[in-house]
Amino acid sequence: MDAQTVEKIKAGMDYEKTRNGPPDGFPALPPIPSARYVDEDFNTLERDRLWKRSWVYACHSDELPEPGSYVLWDKLGSPILLIRGKDGAVRAFYNTCRHRGAPLVKDRSGRRNLFVCGYHGWSYDHEGNLIAVRDERDFPDFDKSCLGLIPVRCENLGNWHFVNCDDDAEPLLDFLGPVADAMAEFQPDAIRLAHKAEYEIECNVKVLLDAFLETYHLKSIHQQTVDRFLDHLGTTIELWPNGHSRMVTPNRHPEWQDPGVAGLPETETVGEIARDNNVSLNIYPNIVCPPSPTGMPFIIFWPKTINTMRLECIWFSPDWGDGPLPDIWETRIANFERILEEDTQFAPQIQQSVESDGFKGIPLSYQERRIYHWHEELDRRIGEAGLDDAVKVEPVLAPYVETPNARDAAE
Ligand code: FES
Ligand SMILES: [Fe+2]
Repeated sequence: MDAQTVEKIKAGMDYEKTRNGPPDGFPALPPIPSARYVDEDFNTLERDRLWKRSWVYACHSDELPEPGSYVLWDKLGSPILLIRGKDGAVRAFYNTCRHRGAPLVKDRSGRRNLFVCGYHGWSYDHEGNLIAVRDERDFPDFDKSCLGLIPVRCENLGNWHFVNCDDDAEPLLDFLGPVADAMAEFQPDAIRLAHKAEYEIECNVKVLLDAFLETYHLKSIHQQTVDRFLDHLGTTIELWPNGHSRMVTPNRHPEWQDPGVAGLPETETVGEIARDNNVSLNIYPNIVCPPSPTGMPFIIFWPKTINTMRLECIWFSPDWGDGPLPDIWETRIANFERILEEDTQFAPQIQQSVESDGFKGIPLSYQERRIYHWHEELDRRIGEAGLDDAVKVEPVLAPYVETPNARDAAE
């Protein structure tokens, strides 16, 4: 992180602690319409224009250790196969045989020399080419070169591999923009996969996503945990293009060090902001990541149905050398799960509320402006034409969206 950004974030935290209200001219945020959480038509638009066209996290390089290694990924419904090729590159394809659609693999992960369909034996190589067809004589004028597996866009930030079902999507690194820059000091090329867990939650995905974009709730639901060491009144926020954002919250006691990570290897290049404070990135649309010198989770929010979702929590760590993950991680993960339980405790009841006539929309405070930023981006993705007044959010935050890359270019 450059010195100018460090100073800006420090000044931002000082300002937030001492202000008496929102900055002059900051707009009162219009309520988020309740229909966004329950309306079937809106849910369809959200699925087709946000989720099916977004860069989303699929897997870590450690899950594809050698040529022929594969991971089956279907968090958004479509079955997608990520394969490491002989050239070391990771490619993604639909796990869909070009003959009659049978799956090439059924296991979640493994390794194959060839991907042979279990239905009639068509075979594909690591690059998705159809190379053998049983009884080819019975397919006259057959051109195998036109029947390779259908590719899916697959690009990476260091060891993190993302997929996007939109062939026309902008390149991942262009989309990530300032997020990729912010991650650089955490060495995404060297970070290792440490632990994975997944939870089913009975609520619309946005009910829980909203909850992870603010620190306003710390004093209530995290009274015995996070609130003891973080001062939410000092939270400073950067809203970035493409819906991304960063939130930095100061430690209550500047000298405080987390005993839960004592002795763990650190990424040396991590700067003072992430060492002395809590940083939380929202990688649009669905990753919340608090990165630290000793590692980080990706907390990932996946829609399942209109009123159910999956929460994935994947931990990454600086290299811990040979052998298993250090024992202290067990406690670290257990402590974090306790915080996640605090965060998710109201979700099913909030879902009951949003489905009732008692839910009349969400009045957001200045502290909760990241949520509004997230929803504005959703409407940009859906496009004006698809939205009626009962569901859309009025765009008001454009003057507060910063483009750090543009600043760098101007320097
Ligand atoms: S469906 Fe794959 S070979 Fe027939
Ligand atoms: Fe929380």
